[in-house]
Amino acid sequence: MVNLDGQVVLVTGASRGIGAAAARAFAEAGALVGVMARNQAAVGELAAEIGGMALAGDVARPADMERAVALLRDRAGRLDVLVNNAGLIGPIADLATADVEEWGQVIDVNLKGVFHGMRAALPVMRAQGRGTILTVGSGAAHAPQEGWSAYCASKAGAYMLTRAVDLEARADGIRAISLSPGTVATEMQKTIRQSGINPVSQLDWSVHIPPEWPARALLWLSGPDGDEFLGREVSLRDDEIRRRIGLTS
Ligand SMILES: NC(=O)c1ccc[n+]([C@@H]2O[C@H](COP(=O)([O-])OP(=O)(O)OC[C@H]3O[C@@H](n4cnc5c(N)ncnc54)[C@H](OP(=O)(O)O)[C@@H]3O)[C@@H](O)[C@H]2O)c1
Repeated sequence: MVNLDGQVVLVTGASRGIGAAAARAFAEAGALVGVMARNQAAVGELAAEIGGMALAGDVARPADMERAVALLRDRAGRLDVLVNNAGLIGPIADLATADVEEWGQVIDVNLKGVFHGMRAALPVMRAQGRGTILTVGSGAAHAPQEGWSAYCASKAGAYMLTRAVDLEARADGIRAISLSPGTVATEMQKTIRQSGINPVSQLDWSVHIPPEWPARALLWLSGPDGDEFLGREVSLRDDEIRRRIGLTS
């Protein structure tokens, strides 16, 4: 179990799903956790439950990410781990007819949101000489699915951001890793199921792993076991990775 006593963690998209589970896991490991998402009420409730800091905001807005990092730094003087988890699946639509605004919103959140997070965290982490940037990726980064052109393109880009920040900042003590969680039983997966548009939407619900699994994987990657994966993507579909984390089906 990773011990994060005295450390400070910022989790985006933490109002539900994988992000909420990750916020709980990092808090249980001893960290002060900044809980960020747009839903102010949900963020406030979870922050109160785990003794964290509520940071309502939108990752698509660079000023909101900078504000979240600044509030944590003002309170705790540091930022040890950033978890770029906030994400959207929609619009689930054929590329030829997808709504242009909605398509762009996925890029704004899933890709630019990760960039905004990294850009806000880097000065604080570089000043400390250390920090970890974990980004929740997806198998969709590497394989197109019908109706998911925005999502797949955004996740492919976000994976490249992990590689780019690793190239530019590893020498400054920054550890950047992407986690591809497989399919997880969350609201996002319900939306996918309702679309019925591609093979992922037709999966039996029982094959999806609980959000606590990627949460534990993120915590594990924040510790020394993550060192061998810098600049790369770790897949939670990998049985050996599950075994090393202590996850069983
Ligand atoms: N579920 C899966 O099978 C699966 C598989 C692979 C990868 N992932 C990835 O895992 C991550 C979490 O997904 P999930 O399954 O937990 O989905 P979810 O239950 O729909 O949760 C998404 C979270 O992102 C937040 N969010 C969305 N837009 C945001 C924005 N503009 N600014 C800040 N927060 C925002 C939402 O909160 P608000 O609405 O309150 O802002 C919510 O907390 C995503 O990056 C997703 O792509 C999921």
